[in-house]
Amino acid sequence: MFHAEIYAARRAELRRRLGEGIILIPGNMLTSNNYPNNTYYFRQDSSFLYYFGLNTPALVGVLDADTGEDALYGDDFTVEDIIWTGPQPSLRELGATVGVERTFPLAELRERLTRAIAQGRRVHYLPPYRGETKLMLSDLLGIKPEALHDRKSVDLMLAVAEMRETKGPEEIEELEKSFHIGYAMHTTAMKMCRAGVVEREIAGAIEGIAKAHGRGVSFPSIVSQHGETLHNLHSDGILENGRLLLCDAGGEGLSYYCSDHTRTYPVSGRFTQKQKDVYNIVLEAHDRVARLIAPGMMYAEVHKAAYLTLAEGLIALGLMHGTAEDAVAAGAMTLFMPHGLGHGMGLDVHDCEAMGERSFDFAQIAERAAASGTCIYRAGWKLRPGTVMTDEPGLYFIPALIDKCKADGLYRGIVDYEALEAYRDFGGIRIEDDILVTETGNRMIGGEKHIPVTVEELEAVVGR
Ligand code: GLY
Ligand code: MN
Repeated sequence: MFHAEIYAARRAELRRRLGEGIILIPGNMLTSNNYPNNTYYFRQDSSFLYYFGLNTPALVGVLDADTGEDALYGDDFTVEDIIWTGPQPSLRELGATVGVERTFPLAELRERLTRAIAQGRRVHYLPPYRGETKLMLSDLLGIKPEALHDRKSVDLMLAVAEMRETKGPEEIEELEKSFHIGYAMHTTAMKMCRAGVVEREIAGAIEGIAKAHGRGVSFPSIVSQHGETLHNLHSDGILENGRLLLCDAGGEGLSYYCSDHTRTYPVSGRFTQKQKDVYNIVLEAHDRVARLIAPGMMYAEVHKAAYLTLAEGLIALGLMHGTAEDAVAAGAMTLFMPHGLGHGMGLDVHDCEAMGERSFDFAQIAERAAASGTCIYRAGWKLRPGTVMTDEPGLYFIPALIDKCKADGLYRGIVDYEALEAYRDFGGIRIEDDILVTETGNRMIGGEKHIPVTVEELEAVVGR
């Protein structure tokens, strides 16, 4: 948690940006897993954390952009609660730690909102992504759950995304701490990697590190010899010599800032020539992006640079023909890397995507998002000093996708489907690091220290 002044300044800036109305920032609630009292680990909403810093369930933050008031709504723990949870600070005490003096019972929020709505005041809220929050907002605002998205505040989404996207020095420091958790996770995975080990043994060990040193994983770990499946959460495989293991994992530090890295390496500890050739193409794309990123660039340019590098490599391997420009323009690279080059990083591992991108229909805000240049619409995302993003190119040989593109007659004369046959069971390679855009260029989160990444570095650790 940061100093109260930081949260107060963020709230004042948000009120200033919105200019009018009431801004509702609900925190998350405890969510039941398989029966009511057995809940998932609690994860606070990231925007609530950003403006209110508190990791307590069932609080709602309210900012009044007209009067300048900041308030917290929530219920103090009762003795019945404390029997189970132990002594807890009061809402008033919690508020004081983040510079909020005005605290109220949750039941009073309805009255306040009802009054505001009756006065014709605007109530800004972000698109909710959890069922409990949807039901609460629906109840408080008198909007059917299915209609909440139509009434979300695009002004608020863009203001929050712009603010959260530009990381302050205190946030960079937290991201650096999370890097070290990620470093320990990945180097442990490398050291455990040997034939006969079950993928889940590695996944379990590294998730334990995330939990022991921080809040836990920043997303479910991907530890699989089927790297061609982008988010492969099945870790049942037994490691076999000759295959590649892809490990995409990260941790959340104690302040909830994330890390997200991917490494791919041979189970045997030695790359075959074929694996090395493909690996070095991906590494070249990764390194080219890391040389290129600078403030003012559009994310789409960075993505294209990665695609061009990968295409050049595939042409050199004989898997594509013609020029890299033509291959990229024809969309052929979507066969080999069907995902974006990277995403924003911060309190969310896909930062601010609760406000846009894949989670919600954002066609209606695309133009405004592009004008604002925030990462909630990656096609229009403009990198700025303080942006943190992943650099995660990959090459994947996905039999079902290869077969479909071939059957559909796609990329004829570009993709050499015959040559591709020899790669059907190759798997996939991804390399991922986290990059901070600076005033003059960029630097990797982690600074001088990096997770082993070259063929030589990986062979030295995995094949020791
Ligand atoms: N590393 C997981 C993801 O970027 O989706
Ligand atoms: Mn990622």
